[in-house]
Amino acid sequence: MSDGESTRELLARYLRQRAELGQRELYLEGYTGAELLERLCTPTVAGVAGKTSAAAVEAPAVSEAPAPEVAAGSDEFEALRVEVLACIRCRLAEGRTTVVFGEGDPRADLLVVGEAPGYEEDRSGRPFVGPAGKLLDKMLAAIGFRRDEVFICNVLKCRPPSNRDPAADEVAACRPYLRKQVELVAPKAICALGRFAAQTVLASEASLTRLRGVTHEFMSIPVVVTYHPAALLRNQQWKRPAWEDLKVLRRIYDEAGGRKPGGNRG
Ligand code: URA
Repeated sequence: MSDGESTRELLARYLRQRAELGQRELYLEGYTGAELLERLCTPTVAGVAGKTSAAAVEAPAVSEAPAPEVAAGSDEFEALRVEVLACIRCRLAEGRTTVVFGEGDPRADLLVVGEAPGYEEDRSGRPFVGPAGKLLDKMLAAIGFRRDEVFICNVLKCRPPSNRDPAADEVAACRPYLRKQVELVAPKAICALGRFAAQTVLASEASLTRLRGVTHEFMSIPVVVTYHPAALLRNQQWKRPAWEDLKVLRRIYDEAGGRKPGGNRG
């Protein structure tokens, strides 16, 4: 690797090699695959890039960032994960502990989208692991799904400092990752949790009240909007309408040909 080579270029070469060789284990000019991944996944910007200049982490313009360049093939999802874990497209890379890519079944028929990692998600690298996550698990169970049967991710893959609202340029930087996740998972239905996720997925400025109760589409996939579990924890009176949303979600999922949940996935 030459001194001037950016982490991004290094990543692109890694992914190209991986695709060309069709191998899971890689060796790249003096780095084993594991060493390279460690470099790419080091959480802070300084740690990721080593030689990254401050300019590289300045917020991009609000227009949506280019689609991620992931290598084609069966390992596309893994390649996307590697790219996202190394992302320095916006200022959130500076303050994060880990990137929260998402988790669950990458072939799930149900994709659940939240807003952004919170404190516990940022520490653990997993989505919805705090109190809101526990409630999300119960919401999914209420319509028959185990957590490992769906894919759960967020609009933003990094935690905004102090859980502040995501900024428009951060969303623009991250949205292509969500689009790619939707494309690769290819779910039969999407559940957007809360106003922010719904507005971002649907590219709408309508209120949550207006977005709920109607089935929308994103990338030709039906989208059902419901309350964010964190909001439900604060507003018990919304649990009943949320339950109505979940029943609609399950019906839409079944009608779209989603696999019956509750079984063994090999
Ligand atoms: N809230 C979200 O929107 N996402 C998480 O992952 C956790 C809390």
